[in-house]
Order: sequence, then C-alpha cells, then structure tokens
Amino acid sequence: MNRYNIAIIKGDGIGPEIVDEAIKVLDAVCSKEDIELSYEEYLMGGNAYDVTGNPLPDETVDGCKKSDAILFGAIGGDKWDGLERHLRPESGLLRLRSELGVYANLRPTSVFDELVDASTIKPEVLKGVDLFVVRELTGGIYFGQPREKNADMAFNTMVYTKEEIKRIAIVAFDSAMKRRKQVCSIDKANVLEVSQLWRETVEEVAKDYPEVTLSHMYVDNAAMQLVRNPRQFDVMLTGNIFGDILSDEASMISGSIGLLPSASVGGKVGLFEPIHGSAPDIAGQGISNPIATIMSAAMMLRFALGEESAADRIEKAVALVLKDGYRTKDLSDYGAKEVCSTTEIGSIIADYVAKI
Ligand code: IPM
Ligand code: MG
Repeated sequence: MNRYNIAIIKGDGIGPEIVDEAIKVLDAVCSKEDIELSYEEYLMGGNAYDVTGNPLPDETVDGCKKSDAILFGAIGGDKWDGLERHLRPESGLLRLRSELGVYANLRPTSVFDELVDASTIKPEVLKGVDLFVVRELTGGIYFGQPREKNADMAFNTMVYTKEEIKRIAIVAFDSAMKRRKQVCSIDKANVLEVSQLWRETVEEVAKDYPEVTLSHMYVDNAAMQLVRNPRQFDVMLTGNIFGDILSDEASMISGSIGLLPSASVGGKVGLFEPIHGSAPDIAGQGISNPIATIMSAAMMLRFALGEESAADRIEKAVALVLKDGYRTKDLSDYGAKEVCSTTEIGSIIADYVAKI
C-alpha cells in the first residue's frame, strides 16, 4: 500500500465545490488501486485574507512543503480587488508557486470528440488537436524587479536568467520526447532582449535532443496560429505571461475552460490546479464544472506520486462520462443526455472510476 499526504487548498468562489468533487473521485480511485491518501486542508486566497489578514499564511506554506503534493481549486474575487497588491488573493498564489519553486507549469489541451462542437472553432480545425503548453512559472514579468506604481507612472520588468530559461527548456524537450517530438518555442525576439536570450538558450538546449524538432514563433503569430491551425503544435514552450495568455486561448480548443487541468512542478512538491479562475458569479449554485480539477488530480497522481494507473483510471472515466452524454451546464448544449450538477457529475465520475 502506497501512502501519501495531500495538502488541499480549496480557495475562493467555486474552489471549494470543485475540490470536493476531485476528492470524491480520488477516494474512489484509492478504493480500486493500492493507494491511501490523507488530506490536510489549508487556507489561501481571499478567504485566508479574511480569516488571517494574509492571503498566504505561513502555516499554509509549511503544510504544503511537508506534503507529497498539493491539490488546489481557485482563488480571487471582486470582493478583494481593491486590496493592495501584496494582500490580494493572486499574490498568495504567486508567492506559493515561488516558495515551492515550481517553475514548470504544464498545461495539456486536447479535444474530446464528443465536445468538438462546443468550441467556437470549426470542428474540422479542431479534430485531433493534442498540445502541451510548458509555461515558465516563477520568473519573467510576474516576478521581475524593479517594479513600481505611483500616481503618474508604473512599470514592471521582464527578466530571465539563462539558467531559468535552460531549466524550463529541458522540461519542454523532455516532454516532447514522450510525445510527438516537436517543440515550438514562443517569444517576442523581434523586439525584446529577454526573448533573444530565450531563443539562444533554447537553441543550445536543443543540441542535447537531436530527435526533437525545434521551431520558434513570435507570440503574436502563435496566438493567431492557435486558432488557425492548432494541430501544428505539440509542445509549446514559453515564458510566464505569454504562457498565461496562450493557455487561456488554447483552452477554447477543448470547448470549455472548465475542462483543463495543470501541473506546476520542478520544486520538491508539486501544485495541481485547474487553469480556470474562481468564477465567483456562479459559486454555490451547483453549476460549476469540476472536471478540470478532477483532471488535475489525475495529473497529481501521475506527475507527483508516480501512480500512473490511478491517473489513467481517472482520465478514462472522465472521457467515458463525457462520451455517455453527462454534461455540466457549461456544456449542456453539446450532446447532453443528462445535465448534471457539480456534485452529480463528480459522483458519476467516481462511479465510473470504481467500475472500469
Ligand atoms: C493562471 C492564473 C494566475 C496567473 C493568476 C490567478 C495569478 O491566471 O494560473 O493562469 O496569471 O498565473
Ligand atoms: Mg491564467
């Protein structure tokens, strides 16, 4: 029996309801595979600020560092938008990523055949898309110093060291070796020095991967190519802010941002979270889609715990549930045999996990 300690951060908005469903599915997996998970809950985000005055209490950082992996829902909401930057929920998340040293954010996007009509993009463009965004997560303009804002001007700094570029490039090439062996590195090297260093460094790393085909693309073109012909991409390697933007764009390929998981790795402990936000407008109504979080739990099993067959089991169950026509409200217009609430779809996925 393999035992693991999982830190749970439910967060704000729909965070708690989607994480609860992911735990339900994980429990179902544990009863089928030889795994035991114990959960410890920690505060982060707006709710943590409300209770402690800090969006990332020390106890959360310590608890996360002691765990084997962290499953996280979502944070943020209008309620905290007026706070100073360092007190905002988003600051808590950025600080946690940084404290954990999880510099590699992996965001896979593919299309479930049954949902090919749910996207605003034409089905013939989408069929067969399977891409993997590797986003640098602890550097770039999100963290660059100096940064400042006063009444008349404000600035941020986009900075990358060669070492930071190298390590994320290695993650991209290693990922490509397990996939279709193509890396497209995305930058703005026609304008930014930081992108020029990015490009040179990626070229150097590529020398160690003779089997992988490397191409480069400017970020503006990449944004266009993602909707024009997304099938051309395998691994998309990019920096923090470009990756943030492109991964939201890529999520529309799958039809709903409620479907896409992510893994943040590279430190001692990995952080697993859906790519979407806390959607405060729909929180508590039972209509949120927990699939992105459930798929993030699968990534946690695979990437943090090495429990490959447990991860496969969840991914297969989700694919079958969608195939059999169960849909949450965001996808109710696309092949729904039955429209389910958040908890209903969680239970159905857990049942499928137990029976396949
Ligand atoms: C994401 C989010 C975060 C980011 C926010 C909430 C700080 O958009 O994970 O993509 O920009 O990294
Ligand atoms: Mg984002």
